[in-house]
Amino acid sequence: MPVRRVFGAYRDLIGIIWAEAPVMVVVTFALTVVNGLLTPLGVYVHQQVFDGGLQVARGEMAFSDYAVFLVLFVLLAILPTLIGGYVFTYVEKRSLLILRTAYKSRMLRKLKTMKYEHFESEASAEIIDKAYHRLETAVRHLWPMYVHWRGSALIAGLGSLAWVAGIKWWLLLTVLIPYFIETWIVSRKNANIYNELETYWNRERRYTLLGGYLRDRLLAREMKAYGNAGYLIDTYVRRLNERNREYERYYFKHLRALLFGSNISKFSSILNVVLLLVLFVGGDITVGLFIAMSRLLFGELYHHLDGAAGFLKWSGYHINTYEYKDKFFALSDEPEGRETEPPASYDIEFRDVWFRYPGTDRDILKGLTFTVRAGEKVSIVGENGEGKSTMIKLLLGLYTPDRGEIRIGGRNLADFPPHVRAKLFGTVFQDFQRYSLTLRENIGIGDIDAMDDEGKIRRAAGKGRVHEFAEKFEKGFDTLLGRDFEGGVDLSGGQWQRIAIARAMMGDKPILILDEPTSQLDPIAEAELCREFAEMVEDRTAIMITHRLGSTMITDRIFVIDGGRVAEEGTHGQLMRAGGIYARMFNAQKQWYRREEGKEATVRV
Ligand SMILES: Nc1ncnc2c1ncn2[C@@H]1O[C@H](COP(=O)(O)OP(=O)(O)OP(=O)(O)O)[C@@H](O)[C@H]1O
Ligand SMILES: [Mg+2]
Repeated sequence: MPVRRVFGAYRDLIGIIWAEAPVMVVVTFALTVVNGLLTPLGVYVHQQVFDGGLQVARGEMAFSDYAVFLVLFVLLAILPTLIGGYVFTYVEKRSLLILRTAYKSRMLRKLKTMKYEHFESEASAEIIDKAYHRLETAVRHLWPMYVHWRGSALIAGLGSLAWVAGIKWWLLLTVLIPYFIETWIVSRKNANIYNELETYWNRERRYTLLGGYLRDRLLAREMKAYGNAGYLIDTYVRRLNERNREYERYYFKHLRALLFGSNISKFSSILNVVLLLVLFVGGDITVGLFIAMSRLLFGELYHHLDGAAGFLKWSGYHINTYEYKDKFFALSDEPEGRETEPPASYDIEFRDVWFRYPGTDRDILKGLTFTVRAGEKVSIVGENGEGKSTMIKLLLGLYTPDRGEIRIGGRNLADFPPHVRAKLFGTVFQDFQRYSLTLRENIGIGDIDAMDDEGKIRRAAGKGRVHEFAEKFEKGFDTLLGRDFEGGVDLSGGQWQRIAIARAMMGDKPILILDEPTSQLDPIAEAELCREFAEMVEDRTAIMITHRLGSTMITDRIFVIDGGRVAEEGTHGQLMRAGGIYARMFNAQKQWYRREEGKEATVRV
């Protein structure tokens, strides 16, 4: 029942505004009542202006008495603009700001605690997107707009009907029956209007996503290089047209019903004015009342009734959107975990871990089992798409295994709350972030508690070898990075990667995870990073995923992931002797490493 849901929403909305500015709530209601009363009051004043004018002409009324009605007449002409245009506009803007601030900050906090998997799921993405972008429209309609405009329309409509009934009770029938017929026809045609509107989200996304591509700097570069922008534009236009055609179809269907419907009340207006004329001729009503009521019946009355009925007709749609807020806040959070202490040791153990992405039907990890002892340095290698990055997402607790268990220091990973887990892992993601912040912040956010600790940031920068290029910046660590803002400095892929490595070094996290840390480094930088790797990680545990098998030699052990499980395990020498997948991959790259060694030698000379 939408009305109950609407009132539930009002409780929330008014509660939020009341807590901050109760006067806004009071003024909204007061303006609504005043605005609504203007219409029935207008009938009285219009009647008096005409009848009084005739009385003055006949010398039956003093002009000083009549002048009051002229003043009221002018006031009534000005007041709606004053109330609607100025006072309400202010109240509306202020109320919306309060609501927006309240909801946006709650939503951001929720996004922080929400399970990561929602960010990768289409169903949750719809909820997040609608709650985040459409809630405001729904709120604006529900609270200040609907209450004010529809509320005053209701008061105006009822007040007008009181006038109608005051003249002859049966006039109510000739006024209302056609109106009900019209409303019935229109709303029957529009019964599924909300559902139709709902389906637009998916269609709009189909072209807005493409529009986003066309504006994206990195994508623009690729499109220019491939010369494929024309194709994307055509696709964009085609999808937009598809959506427009559907919208037009829907709109015209709606429009036809609307035109047909509104004509019924037009005809009934004529009929009722004729009836009023008959009453006037028969001496039942004065000329002033005849004119004032004709004006009401021809224009305002049905408009007000429609306005009031619109509350029922449209709040269903807005309440549906509004309730995306509840769906949003109902999305599951990361488990809080019971442990508040960090684990006793940092041994990592995957025990028969099975995993598939929610909503898919293919297992990515199929009984993954391995142990990494605290302080050990291991490499993980495997073909593209074998699940290496997925394994890291599970280790970080971003996803939970479908079966099996991940243990840290002998405890189930899920026992540790997110803030404890955040202190365990320093991670360089394969698709790491490039923040449009200063260099200092880009590194410091790796450990938010040490954001102001210059020494720690510089040490981390040193480990990622960031200082080598940072020294050349005029503003040093205060250099703004990225192209999003005026004055920002963009870096090369390898330089960004070094910053990502420095970020992972912040906070002396006991476990380092590097997903392809050398992918964007040149071979010399890669060789240097490998050499420094042992020093950089010190006695910490390090898990390095790499496709460059030359890098694996510096680690204690190598795991080869194949078919969702560990297919081979051992040192470089052991795996080479075994002659399996690793040996095959290494031999394929051997040629490349020889050349690289040669190049390195040349550089050294
Ligand atoms: N969010 C997701 N939803 C569904 N499937 C996914 C998702 N992310 C990854 N996959 C699939 O999971 C498989 C493993 O992906 P993953 O990124 O873990 O591979 P990888 O071993 O890291 O590969 P690479 O060496 O290319 O980095 C792939 O087949 C990929 O298509
Ligand atoms: Mg990967």
